[in-house]
Amino acid sequence: MPVEWQPQSQQWHLYNGRLSVVLAVLESGSLGQLYLGPPLEPDRDYRHLARGPFAGYANRVGEPIRFELPTPDSGDYRLPALAVRHADGSQVLDLRYGTHRIATGKPPLAGLPSTYTEDAAEADTLEIDLVDAVSGLMATVRLTIFRDHAAIARSVTVRNDGSTPVRITTLMSASLDILDGGWELISLHGAWSRERHVVRAPLIPGRRVIESLRGSSSLEQSPFLALVRPSTTEDAGEAIGLSLVYSGDFLADAQVDQFSTVRLRLGLNPDSFQWVLEPGAAFTSPEAITVHSTVGLGAMSETFHRLFRTRLARGEWRDRSRPVLINNWEGTYFDFDEERLVAIATVARDLGVELFVLDDGWFGRRDSDDRSLGDWVVDTRKLPNGITGLAQRVTSLGIGFGIWIEPEMVSADSDLFRGHPDWAIGVPGRPRTESRQQLVLDMGRAEVVDYLYAALEAVLGSAPVSYVKWDMNRTMTETYGLALPPERQGEMRHRYILGLYELYSRLVERFPHILFESCSSGGGRFDAGMLAYAPQAWTSDDTDAMERLRIQWGTSLAFPVSSMGAHVSAVPNHQVARMTPLATRAAVAFFGAFGYELDPVAMGPDERAQVAAQIAWFKTHRETIQGGRFLRLQSPFEGDGNDTAWMCVTDDARHAVVGWYRELSRPVPGPRSVRLRGLDPATRYRVRVWPDVDDTLVRRNALVRGGDELMSAGLFLDDGARESAIRGDFQARLFELEAI
Ligand code: GLA
Repeated sequence: MPVEWQPQSQQWHLYNGRLSVVLAVLESGSLGQLYLGPPLEPDRDYRHLARGPFAGYANRVGEPIRFELPTPDSGDYRLPALAVRHADGSQVLDLRYGTHRIATGKPPLAGLPSTYTEDAAEADTLEIDLVDAVSGLMATVRLTIFRDHAAIARSVTVRNDGSTPVRITTLMSASLDILDGGWELISLHGAWSRERHVVRAPLIPGRRVIESLRGSSSLEQSPFLALVRPSTTEDAGEAIGLSLVYSGDFLADAQVDQFSTVRLRLGLNPDSFQWVLEPGAAFTSPEAITVHSTVGLGAMSETFHRLFRTRLARGEWRDRSRPVLINNWEGTYFDFDEERLVAIATVARDLGVELFVLDDGWFGRRDSDDRSLGDWVVDTRKLPNGITGLAQRVTSLGIGFGIWIEPEMVSADSDLFRGHPDWAIGVPGRPRTESRQQLVLDMGRAEVVDYLYAALEAVLGSAPVSYVKWDMNRTMTETYGLALPPERQGEMRHRYILGLYELYSRLVERFPHILFESCSSGGGRFDAGMLAYAPQAWTSDDTDAMERLRIQWGTSLAFPVSSMGAHVSAVPNHQVARMTPLATRAAVAFFGAFGYELDPVAMGPDERAQVAAQIAWFKTHRETIQGGRFLRLQSPFEGDGNDTAWMCVTDDARHAVVGWYRELSRPVPGPRSVRLRGLDPATRYRVRVWPDVDDTLVRRNALVRGGDELMSAGLFLDDGARESAIRGDFQARLFELEAI
């Protein structure tokens, strides 16, 4: 049994041979964390690990006791994982162990996305009930350990079994107390067009905060963080990763106290969340995933990748290769009609594209971004035969048809807003702040969700649609729910997200054959919550190959390659005006859900030939890239950041693809090599390079090399003397490895 309960020592041990978590009932009756780390032997007593610097736990305040669910105002002066206001205004909770249950499998979280099992034998779940006798509040901590992953899923349900209402003011999905402070914190930060850049800094006494208060997980910060040892690298050292399966406001923080112990928290952001629990009512937190690795950041990421790809994403598209697509946004913006779109689709089809995606501008009177959101009715000026007519013409070319929507928004200039001004979020008597000239619909209201479901069901049901890009292009202001009483206004942001999940669930269920891609001004809602509905996300509006190296590298810390929408676009790049070779743009976008975002009609014969070759190359390697292991080799965030390298390798290590990129050309670079990973040391591989711009380079690399050599001495990128083969800025090389 991977969850072991020892009644004598009042200890639980969750173990799967990859990691161990030990909890125990402390002398005070509260639930203590004893251990999280590399696997420990089962059937042993670990109670002595509960020790802090002082002996005993009763009648003392301020001790660095490791609590599973710390609460405020009772002598633990660190930040709480659960805080409430009782009806009398007090905050004290004395949560003591009541009972527990151990079961195989993993229960779903009602209304919330979560990881799952396909077979109950894949996981075991421990639920521990903690009770505050005075108020009657019960908190159930739910921990699932997966058989095949070094990961633990955790959520908490709070139930009011008392007789007066209780207001939850803080509820964290994960709270980890770690005995020593010798760690560095890795988090992902960014902006529009610069999402998820890696920031790594030592922990120092006090508090580091990563959060969103924008109503979504945000472009700026991500609901993910990792603790690593200063010596931890991609392939060595300890790493603890935390990811929140949630798409709204979040808080992640690390607090280092006077004993140098660390409390790490991740959950709903208490600054924008409160929830009133009437007697008998319950509230469940989103799920947090904790991953542990003893062999570096790479293994931590691989655990997230595999878990999210196979047991968070779901539906028909989960295990399927993603179609090579063309999206018309950067090719046409709002300026299109049926003929122009069909011309794009036709050329793209001839080059090997498998899906055409119609982006923004097909509905209402949407000639610019200042109107018509909410009016999900086709604009017959542009598309006289409707979505049905266009989709039929596109699919008759033998490729799929996809469409862009932005359901959660409404333009002030729209029939929807004119008919239902009260559906847009705002505080009565105050102006609403517009952003991109749009307002946010109150997704917490059932009638709004019902309207959107009916409107979108009509569009998606009217034509052979096999792909939907679901956008969300503004953050929240003046958060107020007209349907909520004053004391429940603190629930608004979370109710919005629950309504969003409800709409997603209904549409995904109604159209199981549709591949959904989430989007929020690029990667502004790229989080584990979204992956449960949309197995891929538009990684960034920035399609420049050099910018994408950093964005895709950072994103890969927590998310699989198959989830990262990545497109080749025209130059000068529309976001940064950089000129990069077409081959380089493809070599970066290959490591994702690959596609094009340009007007192929405008391309000359040479470019078209290159694109056709790129698509052919990608189709050959798609399985290895989207279904294999993704391993980071050389970071654009380290050193001078000029070189980046990563690779994908099949589970059986028979095939691999290495991407290597150089930003700027430098004189006298010397021989460069990169050490590969994940190969079989005893196997010999045939190495080929792409593109074959230089025959010598091709010949040199069409050699046979041992897996041991490639992982220890490395793959030589340019071989010094042949540096001329890769001169110039913004260069890329792809190496294909095939086991002999
Ligand atoms: C957002 C998306 C883009 C595009 C536009 C359309 O910015 O991120 O990809 O769909 O909206 O308005």
